[in-house]
Amino acid sequence: MFETLRPQSPDKIIRLMQMFRDDPRMGKIDLGVGVWRNAAGQTPVMAAVKAAERHLVETQESKSYVTLAGDAGFLEAMRGLLLGDAVPAARVAAAGTPGGTGAVRQILELVRLARPDATVWISEPTWPNHPALIDTVGLRRKSYRYYDAETGALDRAGMMADLAQVGPGDVVLLHGCCHNPTGADLARDDWRQLATLLAERGSVPFVDMAYQGFGAGLEQDADGLRLIAAQVPEVLIAASCSKNFGLYRDRAGLAMAICRDAQAQGVVQGMLAWLNRQNFAFPPDHGARVVQTILGDADLRATWQSELETMRLAMDRNRAAFADALRQTTRSDRFGFLRDQRGMFSLIGIGAPAIARLREEHGIYLIEDGRMNVAGLTDSTIPVVAEAIAASI
Ligand SMILES: Cc1ncc(COP(=O)(O)O)c(C=O)c1O
Repeated sequence: MFETLRPQSPDKIIRLMQMFRDDPRMGKIDLGVGVWRNAAGQTPVMAAVKAAERHLVETQESKSYVTLAGDAGFLEAMRGLLLGDAVPAARVAAAGTPGGTGAVRQILELVRLARPDATVWISEPTWPNHPALIDTVGLRRKSYRYYDAETGALDRAGMMADLAQVGPGDVVLLHGCCHNPTGADLARDDWRQLATLLAERGSVPFVDMAYQGFGAGLEQDADGLRLIAAQVPEVLIAASCSKNFGLYRDRAGLAMAICRDAQAQGVVQGMLAWLNRQNFAFPPDHGARVVQTILGDADLRATWQSELETMRLAMDRNRAAFADALRQTTRSDRFGFLRDQRGMFSLIGIGAPAIARLREEHGIYLIEDGRMNVAGLTDSTIPVVAEAIAASI
């Protein structure tokens, strides 16, 4: 039977991870994969996570199955973190998933069941797994303009013009904060305008929240989502705990749907559990329970928030230091946009030949479209990368 299979090529992020692993050079620098790194270039387990894990080892008495939707305490704690009191709990359906990717997949499956002819609108550019998952699930997709490469900022007018075309029942995928790959985020006013537009057109916002706490702050990063949730009757959410809890490999995430009323919530809650059953039955529990333990304990929560804030500020510092270093090495402020963007990623905008030269001649790995993980820079690599970029463009 296997002779019918055609090899699937890995996406550009996974491809680059493999190339980096295969590169034998000592001083190689990975700015491709989206993981946060400290000053020593490591991605340590957060202290709050270690403490929660110790607590679990000591107190957990069973690893028997939980429910199909996962641990209720985790879902409730995450509802608070994401939505605050923007909508009544009785309207929110939620189920645990394997990471944020699993959440995006389950939400798309829910959309396909509810409205198979819906078009899912994605930003141009976006995280490559968005179009890939939409295609795998078999939904239609269209792109809306998002980023102005000339200015390194949001293409506000283009975005609003394109989204004025969305149909009733169409789904508009938005990045909750720290847009991947551009780092160009929506301002509060943009969220407000979008909420009005989408409510008017009867379309459903789908907010992918993978970096809460990495942008402007834990609460501020949820501001746009909460604005939309308060104004649009149906909202889809995919959330990941991979980055802000550093739980990458533990696969903690959740799919959430805000419904029109409590009756619809009951139906959607059942569908999310049923979809979990069809795809993997029970969601991973360990990471979710770590998150619940942290969010449910005042001391652990304070430790976690302070660690998260340290990470966020380090990313901001990297951005400023890297933009300064590039100003010196290129004698221009061409890369000044790096300072204003948010989160782990920016598109460096130097073209494919320069990206290839960085990799081949300097052992510096960026995604082929120029996406760069700013959180992967350290005090010692910033001058090296800035010199190499100046030499490569
Ligand atoms: C926009 C976006 N959504 C979702 C995810 C999902 O992450 P994970 O599946 O590792 O939780 C990521 C991770 O890179 C992302 O960038």
